[in-house]
Amino acid sequence: MKALVYRRFGAADVLEWVDDWPYPQLSADSVLVRTVAGSVNPKDVLVRKGKFRHSFARDSLPRASGLDVAGRVVAVGDNVTEFSVGDAVFGMTNHFSGGVHVEVARFDRGEVQHAPTNLSLEMAAAVPLAAQTALQAIRDCCAPSEGQRILINGASGGVGHYAVQIAKAMGLEVHGVCGPRNIDFVKSLGADVVHDYSRQPAVKIGSRFDAVFDVFGKFTRSMFSGQLTPRGVYVSTVPKPRTLAGELVARLGLNKTSRLVQVRSDARDLLQLKQWIEQGLLRPHVQKTYPVTEAADAHRQIESRHTVGKVCLTFGTG
Ligand SMILES: NC(=O)c1ccc[n+]([C@@H]2O[C@H](COP(=O)([O-])OP(=O)(O)OC[C@H]3O[C@@H](n4cnc5c(N)ncnc54)[C@H](OP(=O)(O)O)[C@@H]3O)[C@@H](O)[C@H]2O)c1
Repeated sequence: MKALVYRRFGAADVLEWVDDWPYPQLSADSVLVRTVAGSVNPKDVLVRKGKFRHSFARDSLPRASGLDVAGRVVAVGDNVTEFSVGDAVFGMTNHFSGGVHVEVARFDRGEVQHAPTNLSLEMAAAVPLAAQTALQAIRDCCAPSEGQRILINGASGGVGHYAVQIAKAMGLEVHGVCGPRNIDFVKSLGADVVHDYSRQPAVKIGSRFDAVFDVFGKFTRSMFSGQLTPRGVYVSTVPKPRTLAGELVARLGLNKTSRLVQVRSDARDLLQLKQWIEQGLLRPHVQKTYPVTEAADAHRQIESRHTVGKVCLTFGTG
C-alpha cells in the first residue's frame, strides 16, 4: 500500500510517497482506517531528523511518518463494538515515532473517535494531536477555575490556536501572545487581550496570571515568578532539564506549579473536542493543505515555526 516514508534521517526531502509499504495487521482491540488526510506536527520533523533515535523512537528505518489523521474505518477487531466499517473517525497514534501517514493506518481503539459531523475529514485531521495537547495542558496541568486568567505564549500556531478557544470554552480570561502578523487572528479566536512578542515578550507583560501555557516553550516558571499568583501554574510543551524536573516534582505530588504536558491520545478527550466543535465552540484553522506528494513542503512550513493554525496533507484516498 501507499505510505509517506523516509529511509534515512535528515531534511524534509528524505520523505517519499511509496507504494510498497506493508498492510497493517488487525488485532482484537484495534481498528484499520483508510486515511483521507493527516496533519503535520513539529514532532514529525524532530523524529524525521533522528532526534529521538537513541531514546524513544528506536524503530528501524525505513519508517512511515505521521501522528494524526482522519479517515474511514475499513476493519474492526473482534473486541471493538464502538466503530463499524465505513465510520468517519479522527485520531492520533500513541506510538512515539508515528507511522500513520499511510493509506491504511492501524489504531488502538482508544486512540480514535467518531469525527465531528460538521467538519470535512480534511479539516478533522487538523485536530487530534494539537487540540488534545491544548486540552490536556489546560485542563489537567493548569486545572483552572472559571474566571481565572491564563496567558498563552504562542497563541497563533497549531497548539496555541486551540488553546485560546479551549480556554474560552472553559470560561477563562485569555491573554494570547503571538507575532505582529497574527494579532487579529488570535483576537478572532476569542482572546480577551493579545500581545505582540516583538514589542513585549511574554515575561514582561505587566499582569498577574493564574496560569501560563508556554506553547512556544521558550521560558521556565521562574521567569514568570513576578507574574504568576503564588499557586499559579506554568506549563511548557518542551522537555528541558527545568521543565522535566518540575514535572517530576508534580508527579510526586510535592508541588504542581511547573508542569510539562506530554500528550496522549484518548478517545474521551477526542469526544470532548468533537462536542465542542459540533457546538461551535472550537474550530480548526488550516493555513494550507498539501497533497502528500508535496509533503516535504508541508514539513518545511512547520519547520518555519510560524505556521498559522495547522498544515494538513491529503492522501488522495478519499
Ligand atoms: N509535549 C507535548 O506533548 C507536545 C505536543 C504538541 C506540541 N509540542 C511542542 O509544542 C511546540 C508548539 O507546537 P505547535 O504545533 O503549536 O507548533 P507551530 O504550529 O509550529 O506553532 C508555532 C507558533 O509559535 C509562534 N512563535 C514563533 N516564535 C515565537 C516567539 N518568539 N514567542 C512566542 N511564540 C512564537 C508562532 O507564532 P507567530 O507566527 O505569530 O510568530 C507560531 O504560531 C513545539 O515545540 C512542539 O514540538 C509538544
